[in-house]
Amino acid sequence: MRVVIAASEAVPYSKTGGLADVCGALPKALKRIGVDVHVIVPRYTGMSVRNGDVVSNSNGFQIMSDLAVPFGGGIRYASVWQDWLDDTPFYFIDFPEYFGLGYIYGSGDFDVERFAFFSRATLELIKRLGNPPEVIHCNDWQTGLVPAYLNSTYRFDPYFSNTSTFFSIHNLAYQGLFSPGLLAHAGLGADVYQYGLEFHGMASSMKSGLYFSNGLSTVSRKYAEEIQTEEFGNQLEGLLRWRRDDLIGILNGVDYDEWNPAHDIYTAAHFSHEHLEGKRECKRQLLRNFHLPEDLDRPLTAIVTRLTTQKGIDLLAQAIWRILDPGASFVMLGSGSKSYEDFFQHVRDSRPEQVGVYFGYSTALAHQIEAGADMYLMPSAYEPCGLNQMYSLKYGTVPIVRGTGGLDDTISDFNRSSGQGNGFKFYDYSPDRLI
Ligand code: ADP
Ligand code: GLC
Repeated sequence: MRVVIAASEAVPYSKTGGLADVCGALPKALKRIGVDVHVIVPRYTGMSVRNGDVVSNSNGFQIMSDLAVPFGGGIRYASVWQDWLDDTPFYFIDFPEYFGLGYIYGSGDFDVERFAFFSRATLELIKRLGNPPEVIHCNDWQTGLVPAYLNSTYRFDPYFSNTSTFFSIHNLAYQGLFSPGLLAHAGLGADVYQYGLEFHGMASSMKSGLYFSNGLSTVSRKYAEEIQTEEFGNQLEGLLRWRRDDLIGILNGVDYDEWNPAHDIYTAAHFSHEHLEGKRECKRQLLRNFHLPEDLDRPLTAIVTRLTTQKGIDLLAQAIWRILDPGASFVMLGSGSKSYEDFFQHVRDSRPEQVGVYFGYSTALAHQIEAGADMYLMPSAYEPCGLNQMYSLKYGTVPIVRGTGGLDDTISDFNRSSGQGNGFKFYDYSPDRLI
C-alpha cells in the first residue's frame, strides 16, 4: 500500500510538540510492516531553536524549483526539497513567503492561509511524483483542507480516482478557524463552505478534515470517546457522533530508537530495567544541570511541557507548595504562557535549594529529565494521548497522571495490595487528588 503522510511538523526536522514525534516515528513503523510511505512537510527556514520550535540544519536536496500551485487567484511556484530517513522519502514544500518566517505557527487568518497553501501544494506535489497513493494521511487542522480540495477541486481528477483520505485528530481544541473571505483566495467554493466548513459563521479547517475524510482516527481510545461529548467536543461532538462508525482511537507509538535509556545520546549514563545503576548517575547530572544540591536520596519530581491550561499547570501551581513542603525537589522544563513562567520563577526564587526551572526549548534537557527524575507529573486537564508518560515508563520514572485521554489508557494506578500498576492516577481535577 502506498501512503502519503502530510503534516505541519515532523522530527527531526521541525517540532513544537508530540505531533512531530508521531510524524517522525509513524513512517518508520509503517515501513517495517511493508507500507510504501512518503512524508510531506513544510520547509521552515529563517529559524534557529526558539519559541519552542526546533529545526535541524539538514533539509536534504532541492529536487524541484517549479511546483505550480494554484492559489490566491493565480499560480504560485514553490520549490521542493527531499531527504531520506531510514529509506523513507521526506519532501519539503519550500515557499519562503509562508515558511521562511522564523517560526512554525503564528496565528489567525494568515496561519490558515499558510497551511491552506501547504495543503494545496501537497496535492500538486503528489501529482508530480507520479504513482498515486491509496491513502493520504492528514494530521490536525493544518492539513484539514486536503480532503476538502480532494472532494471539490480534484473531485473528477482521474489521478486521484483510487485515493482515500484518512484524518488523525491530535488535538481537537486547535481548529484553524478563519474568516470565510479567505475561501476564494484558497480556491474553495461557497458550496464546500456551506456543507463542510461552516462553524458559527467562521470556516473551520478542523471541521473540513472531520467532514470530508473517508476515515478518522484519534490518538487514544479514551479520547475517541471523550470528543463525542460536550465536555471535550469543542462543539464538534455532534459531527463526531454522526461519524462515529468511521472514527477509531489508536494509541500513539513511541520511537525507542530516540527514547531509550540504554543508548540515549543526551544522558550521562545508560541503564535498562535489568541494570538500573546508571539512573543514579543521570539523577546526579540532572541536579547539577539545574544547580540543585546533589542529594540523591531526596525524591525528585519533574515535568516537561508546553505551559498551557491543557497541561493542568494551574492545578500544579495550586499543589506545588505541598509537593515541596515535605522535602521533595522539583524541576520544570517548559515554554508558553508568560504568567505561568513568572509563577514558577517565583517558586524557584523562593526555594532555590529544591526547585529548578528552564523556560525554553531543549531536547537534551527533556531526555535528561526523563532519565534523571524519580517521578514525572502529568496532571492534564485533557490529553489526547501524551507521550511523556510513555517515555517515563521506559526510563523507570514513575508517572503521576490525571486519568484523561491517553493518560487513562496507558497508566494503571498502583495497587498496594496486589502490587499491580505502572504509575499513580487520579481523576478529579483538584490539587488534593494530585497531592
Ligand atoms: P503535546 O504534543 O500536547 O505538547 P505530548 O506529550 O504528545 O504533548 O508531546 C510533547 C513532546 O514535546 C514531548 O516529546 C516532549 O518531551 C516535548 N516537549 C514539550 N515541551 C518541551 C520543551 N520545553 N523542551 C523540549 N521538549 C519539549
Ligand atoms: C497533541 C496532543 C498530545 C498528543 C500529540 C501527538 O499535541 O496534545 O496529547 O500526544 O498531539 O498525537
